[in-house]
Amino acid sequence: MQDSLDFSIIEHGSHAYEQACLLRDGMLRKPLGLSLFDEDLDAESSFIHVVGRDDNGTVHAYLQFKPVDGKVIKMQQVVVAAHLQGQGIGRALVHFSEEHVRSLGYTEVTLHAREVVMSFYEALGYRQEGDVFMEVSLPHFKHRKVL
Ligand SMILES: CC(C)(COP(=O)(O)OP(=O)(O)OC[C@H]1O[C@@H](n2cnc3c(N)ncnc32)[C@H](O)[C@@H]1OP(=O)(O)O)[C@@H](O)C(=O)NCCC(=O)NCCS
Repeated sequence: MQDSLDFSIIEHGSHAYEQACLLRDGMLRKPLGLSLFDEDLDAESSFIHVVGRDDNGTVHAYLQFKPVDGKVIKMQQVVVAAHLQGQGIGRALVHFSEEHVRSLGYTEVTLHAREVVMSFYEALGYRQEGDVFMEVSLPHFKHRKVL
């Protein structure tokens, strides 16, 4: 059991960001037969990147925010390493991240939830909006939360 991870905001292009990309590729793209590294990630230089690291500095959890406008921000690429899931780390990562963007003046978070993890976001107060749509070959639903 992992007691806790240390959550922090990291720089785009940092070593932690590179570790997070490997985690994202392994958890969110390889299982679909895709590679994160085939995607154009240049726009991520303007995103907010959040990691959860253990005492050795190893990244086990990650999410990013893409600003939509001055008040609304989109959360995406939410991932917790498989061996640490089900221990409250995802919940803690999202709470830490919401507090950070709230402190920056954002008032609303949107996201595209994979259908299989909708209940994760709904447990954190996100509400479904609209119809199903396909993204990376999987059914998704838009969700939003007012901070
Ligand atoms: C979704 C994910 C980030 C959750 O992280 P986690 O650390 O396992 O989640 P937590 O332990 O903090 O769970 C928080 C709540 O969400 C629920 N939950 C967690 N994972 C869930 C899942 N896959 N499906 C449905 N509910 C889930 C838990 O039951 C818990 O609810 P509770 O507090 O009422 O018991 C993690 O399972 C993951 O990385 N999945 C693979 C990547 C992925 O699909 N990301 C989302 C892309 S949209």
